[in-house]
Amino acid sequence: MNRVLVIGATGTVGRQVVSQLLPTGAQVRAMTRSPEAAGLPPQVEVVCGDLTLPETLDGCLDGGMGGTDAVFLVWTALPAAAGPAMERIARHARRIVYLSAPLKTPHPFFQQPNPSRALAERIERLIETSGLPWTFLRPGMFAANALGFWAPQIRAGDVVRWPYLAVHTAPIHERDIAAVAVRALCEDGHAGAEYVLTGPQSLSQAEQVATIGRAIGRPLRLEEISPDQARRELLAVLPAPVVVNMLLDAWAASIGQPAFVTSTVAEITGAPPRTFLDWATGHAAEFRT
Ligand SMILES: NC(=O)c1ccc[n+]([C@@H]2O[C@H](COP(=O)([O-])OP(=O)(O)OC[C@H]3O[C@@H](n4cnc5c(N)ncnc54)[C@H](OP(=O)(O)O)[C@@H]3O)[C@@H](O)[C@H]2O)c1
Repeated sequence: MNRVLVIGATGTVGRQVVSQLLPTGAQVRAMTRSPEAAGLPPQVEVVCGDLTLPETLDGCLDGGMGGTDAVFLVWTALPAAAGPAMERIARHARRIVYLSAPLKTPHPFFQQPNPSRALAERIERLIETSGLPWTFLRPGMFAANALGFWAPQIRAGDVVRWPYLAVHTAPIHERDIAAVAVRALCEDGHAGAEYVLTGPQSLSQAEQVATIGRAIGRPLRLEEISPDQARRELLAVLPAPVVVNMLLDAWAASIGQPAFVTSTVAEITGAPPRTFLDWATGHAAEFRT
């Protein structure tokens, strides 16, 4: 039996990885800092661990399973903890699949320097030198970012104020990222692979908002705001100035270019990636009041 530890199991992608691993027959262990709040399916063993407290990882990696065949790693914790955590993971696991970003893709959207990129580069270096067979998933813009970007305004009314409305991205459904992750966690043949994953369509931000309007059956009105206005207003909905600056820089650099689109999801999973309309339809309730 394939024993898989999912680190980041309560997050956008990790939750999907957990639910898609279950039908494969894998023995799934889900790590979280707050097991009581995890809300994961009952077949999943939920274990308590914190990447910044390396001594908590041994039990999660070894525990009752007698080892771990594969680890799915989401890293949003502080960079300083990465070295000790990776040492623990390398000691117990046989393969690792890391949720990274398109760090090497020569499209301006992916080439702006920022702390999140530096963190991912650091984690990749640690994984590459760990001796573990690895697979790096390199998804572009998550479709799920639309919840943080626009749901508060759409729940409150029909007007969406946003910068860079003409800029294109190719939002990817979290289920498609997870579907590739599950292949890499469960099958041989993915060691050393770096999968750049995108949704199927290059869509402007204006088209994405309109698509959400279609999904919820309500026309939405757009008001373009300047980057400086956005810098002030986005702090209300995004977690930190560093994230706001990262996005504004990436959008500014991408003006006038189609988004980078790959066929990797279909090549690995055999199924076409879900569209943004699929994603918005599935999440319509979260945009309604
Ligand atoms: N958003 C995008 O467009 C995009 C694009 C490309 C790549 N990415 C990358 O995707 C990753 C985020 O994935 P996501 O959106 O699925 O994550 P998420 O929804 O933000 O969830 C973060 C997960 O990490 C866990 N976590 C946080 N700190 C932890 C710690 N100290 N110890 C153990 N677990 C911890 C959380 O678990 P608990 O709170 O339950 O402990 C949670 O399950 C980031 O690395 C980001 O750079 C994002």
